Amino acid sequence: MAIGDQAERLRSIISDLRLQHDEQFNSRTITITSGKGGVGKTNITVNLAICLAMRGFRTVILDADFGLSNVDVMLGTVSRYSFVDLLKNDKRLEDILGIGPAGVRFISGGSGAIELLNMDKRQLDSIIDKMASLDKTADIILVDTGAGITPSVTRFMQASDEVILVVTPEPASLTDAYALVKSSIGLIEQSKMHIVFNRVADIREAKDTEDRFLTTVERFLGVRVNSLGCVNHDNAVLKAVKKQQPFILEYPQCKAAEQIRTIADALLGTNKTYSIGRSYNGIRGFLNRLLKGA
Ligand SMILES: Nc1ncnc2c1ncn2[C@@H]1O[C@H](COP(=O)(O)OP(=O)(O)OP(=O)(O)O)[C@@H](O)[C@H]1O
Ligand SMILES: [Mg+2]
Repeated sequence: MAIGDQAERLRSIISDLRLQHDEQFNSRTITITSGKGGVGKTNITVNLAICLAMRGFRTVILDADFGLSNVDVMLGTVSRYSFVDLLKNDKRLEDILGIGPAGVRFISGGSGAIELLNMDKRQLDSIIDKMASLDKTADIILVDTGAGITPSVTRFMQASDEVILVVTPEPASLTDAYALVKSSIGLIEQSKMHIVFNRVADIREAKDTEDRFLTTVERFLGVRVNSLGCVNHDNAVLKAVKKQQPFILEYPQCKAAEQIRTIADALLGTNKTYSIGRSYNGIRGFLNRLLKGA
């Protein structure tokens, strides 16, 4: 065989291998939610995303808080377009992807995105097709949701590969988190629920509260929730929010930043087969389940 032919064959084998790899690969989609609002979901999403990106994982945030989307503000940037522009203004995925610190990319939900849940099949297919290439370019997609146990939040939880429930140690937050877990029974695979305790004053006390919460949830609801860790109430978080900068970059030495790094490690450690990526449904699976209930 001539050298030129051999080189051509080799190129074709490599390209086949790459295709096989790409076809197997899917993004890991994780919805961040809470029962009660204002517990720190957006702060945790944004800072965790930056931490994951700094660990080398291509990370995208989907801002699904349709009422008060503010991921872009917390990233210290502004978004020009939103998810809705994919359809209404015929934008491409590249047009609506914003870029934040550490290369974290984000998609703003936009106030009209709730309409997505009522679109016809052709429109939905068009959105899903436009978004599908994210599976090739994103390792992890974090979905930040709005507050409350609404049907749309439950749908986001159902659609994603995993869920992170954010809770503060106050009774109201714990009661609402319990109600959220209860509302998800039968709809969500139990193995995919994680929990993060935020705005904790005393770690030991928080651990006791968390243990009691996890035991109650397991005993009365039969659901096992995996603990990823705690984040202290930290004034550096408040200062960073005022500056519209992520605390993990503005105050990398603060307690909350250190704890976010521990949470990122726990999350990455929960699935050792991550790099193979076969076990994830990816953005296509996520959107199919979210938008079409498929
Ligand atoms: N660990 C923390 N230490 C101190 N303050 C915090 C901490 N986490 C969050 N906060 C403060 O709590 C407020 C709400 O945070 P954030 O916007 O992240 O909550 P949220 O759950 O996304 O709210 P919403 O339900 O409205 O979307 C912010 O002003 C933030 O500064
Ligand atoms: Mg929020």
